[in-house]
Amino acid sequence: MIELKKLCKVYKTADKEIVALDNIDLCIEDGEIFGIIGLSGAGKSTLVRCINLLEMPTDGEVIIDGQSLTKLPRPELLKLRQQIGMIFQSFNLLEQRTVLKNVCFPLEIAGVNKKEATERAHELLKLVGLDDRAQSYPSQLSGGQKQRVAIARALATQPKYLLCDEATSALDPNTTRQILDLLKEINEKLGVTIVVITHEMKVIDRICDSVAVIDASHIAEVGKVSQVFTNPRSKIARDLIVPKDSTAIDTEGGRRIRLTFDGYEKTNDPFISRMVLECGAAVNILFADTRIYDGVLHGHMVVELPKEQREANKIITWLVNNDVKWKEEI
Ligand SMILES: Nc1ncnc2c1ncn2[C@@H]1O[C@H](COP(=O)(O)OP(=O)(O)O)[C@@H](O)[C@H]1O
Ligand SMILES: [Mg+2]
Repeated sequence: MIELKKLCKVYKTADKEIVALDNIDLCIEDGEIFGIIGLSGAGKSTLVRCINLLEMPTDGEVIIDGQSLTKLPRPELLKLRQQIGMIFQSFNLLEQRTVLKNVCFPLEIAGVNKKEATERAHELLKLVGLDDRAQSYPSQLSGGQKQRVAIARALATQPKYLLCDEATSALDPNTTRQILDLLKEINEKLGVTIVVITHEMKVIDRICDSVAVIDASHIAEVGKVSQVFTNPRSKIARDLIVPKDSTAIDTEGGRRIRLTFDGYEKTNDPFISRMVLECGAAVNILFADTRIYDGVLHGHMVVELPKEQREANKIITWLVNNDVKWKEEI
């Protein structure tokens, strides 16, 4: 388990201090895929670099499996770090080394003999689907393939945790999905706890169990993905889930309301059409993002009610009678 307690990080530059993390409390359970989402500059990279003390926190504690990292003597810290693999947006491969030698690198450092290291590296390359490229150089690979090598390298010392800082941000949507599916497979097959840092809700949505939303150095919201996705409580979570421009369509309509589906079971019910027909009043759908988790509908939809008060009330009454949750869109 990774626990962060009152974690703070202040960067001191020549002329000012930048508070990158402000009192972060977070708990990441073993076996989870935990997402951390936030806008650029929110403090995500700083947070993830504090987890393995690549960045020294200014205050607070990082506790991994009950051990407080900042208090560990250096040799023990180095040993514990082997439990934590990391991958990055820019892959960070060693260009002068072959794919195989890249994966062997952390094993060499850990003092594993060459034969054993080579065997393990081949196994890992098989796992990520790249054993046939063992003798290639990074420059001969696509972005997705480079990230696969980086994943194999990060897993070489059999870490319990894998930290991924914007690991798919440089990849196209298709490759992104393949890499995310690979991470999910690693989580399930090897039981590795994965921390995914991203600015994209779709990354979180595809593989994470839980998510923390980070905004301007602090945690704005934490919860199960299905919860945060259906019922975002913080403004920042709403902004990340609903792209800003999606509700910016200027119409002549009336009030905007948000319908939330938090386990709506009638997944085949074309309820919007039914509502419009039964009320004899139209709504304008400004945004919709709904998913089916465990056979029930989750997600939300922003609609604009008719300008005419009486018609708007008809819609509201219909929603109430049909058990559809709604609230005024802010
Ligand atoms: N080494 C550094 N020195 C000074 N300021 C930094 C340093 N690294 C990050 N920052 C600042 O800390 C804040 C958080 O940065 P970062 O953790 O990289 O955010 P994110 O990964 O969410 O984009 C930003 O304001 C950034 O400019
Ligand atoms: Mg970053």
